[in-house]
Amino acid sequence: MHDYVIRNVRVLDGGGGPAREADVAVDEGRIVEVGSVSPGIEEIDGGGACLAPGFIDTHAHDDGAFFRHPGMEFKLAQGVTTVVSGNCGFSAVPADPEKDSVAASGGILAGLEGEFTDLDGYFEAALARGPAINNLMLVGHNTVRALVMGMEKRAPTRDELAAMAGHVERALEQGACGFSTGLIYRPGRWSGTEEVIELARLAKPFDALYTTHMRNEGDFLLEAVDETLTIGREADVHAHISHHKSAGRANWGKVRDSLKKVDDALAAGQRVTLDVYPYTAGSGRMIEYFDLDHPSRELAEVIRIASCPAFREYEGRMLTDIAAELGIDVTEAVRHVLTAPKGDRTICIQFIIDEADVETNLAHRDMMVGSDGIPDLRGRPHPRLFGTFPRVLGHYVRERGVLTLEEAVRRMTSLSAATFGLIDRGRIQPGCWADLVLFDPDTVADGATYDEPKTPPTGIRLVMVNGRIALRDGTHTAVGSGRMLRYRRPAYGDPEG
Ligand code: ZN
Ligand code: CU
Repeated sequence: MHDYVIRNVRVLDGGGGPAREADVAVDEGRIVEVGSVSPGIEEIDGGGACLAPGFIDTHAHDDGAFFRHPGMEFKLAQGVTTVVSGNCGFSAVPADPEKDSVAASGGILAGLEGEFTDLDGYFEAALARGPAINNLMLVGHNTVRALVMGMEKRAPTRDELAAMAGHVERALEQGACGFSTGLIYRPGRWSGTEEVIELARLAKPFDALYTTHMRNEGDFLLEAVDETLTIGREADVHAHISHHKSAGRANWGKVRDSLKKVDDALAAGQRVTLDVYPYTAGSGRMIEYFDLDHPSRELAEVIRIASCPAFREYEGRMLTDIAAELGIDVTEAVRHVLTAPKGDRTICIQFIIDEADVETNLAHRDMMVGSDGIPDLRGRPHPRLFGTFPRVLGHYVRERGVLTLEEAVRRMTSLSAATFGLIDRGRIQPGCWADLVLFDPDTVADGATYDEPKTPPTGIRLVMVNGRIALRDGTHTAVGSGRMLRYRRPAYGDPEG
């Protein structure tokens, strides 16, 4: 008898081919048979819905969420079974337990606790919480730089660069899937291209990735893509562009030019990939986006406050609205929020992206999906935290027809698994880990909106993580079967194959 048999489903195996009717048998965490299979101890009737590999969130900031919210409801409810954390240059490790580990990230990594200093230590501490889903990690440049040289606005000395390299190398040795940057943020923005190349090069012996929130996503988007491609070439590593977008009205449409640059690089043999989130607003730490001496009016007018420890009453409101209430100019409202005590920990939502660009991105051949969700559940977070994957399937596949269902599933599963070095995941085939999602393609949809961002999606019936049922008909089973994954190696704590 198999542990589980799932019957009466249309299997989308992740490879991009058409769905086929088959039963799936699961034993000891892995898929063992696909086809017509013998009975299981537990028989699951799929009711004719689609069974796909669990979705892989290629762009997450869940380093701290594994401590604060190990149930990971906001991801699990979407059918996400694995996240890639440590993005945009901010990662849980390396860490100095004596220091405030979240200071540099300003709340993006909120929730981290424990005495760990390196990735092994983080994995051990996170695993002890019984995570609901799997986690793969990047090691972040901003974190490493802040640890070694604080907020110094200069190039590192030879010794400092060597110390940074030591941290990056150690994380890669312990299973990080790559090195991430956030060159728009502090302190990464004070680094030159050479520094990034030196550190990205450390990924080469592991054939790991260089992922980047680029130095610019607006007026200088194309220059930033050029820099990314240069770093990838010089360091001789796979470059991955995070949350590809063109920010600001004057730049709308430019994503076509940047995708052309990517296509040209691919044609020339360079390894480069991208991800996108399916929304027209970005979100992040507000203080990073404004020069307090000259706050941009254009940006200020499209800002909505997500979470704000200084003024909880502003959460969920547009800055223009707050400014009108206070009787001050919107640029003054920027200063009012950011200079208040803890004002620098404000997370905002900025409506800076054109809907047509979102569709251009999603229509691109190998575009992956990453939520970029910031798991601060206070206030009103960007709805991408709760809605990204069902939104692609419901809105962009079913309603808009921007891509087919098979293709969307491929890009959310096998392509991401192959890109991020997840072995035996991202496919429904014998031998693969049973990370599975059962969903109804006719009803799957995101429920989260800007006003009600924590509304769970609909149409996700069952989620299995490493062969255990983690979510069923909206009920979280709390089995905690997630693992801490390592790049192209067995998970942390698993015997080396
Ligand atoms: Zn980012
Ligand atoms: Cu990010």
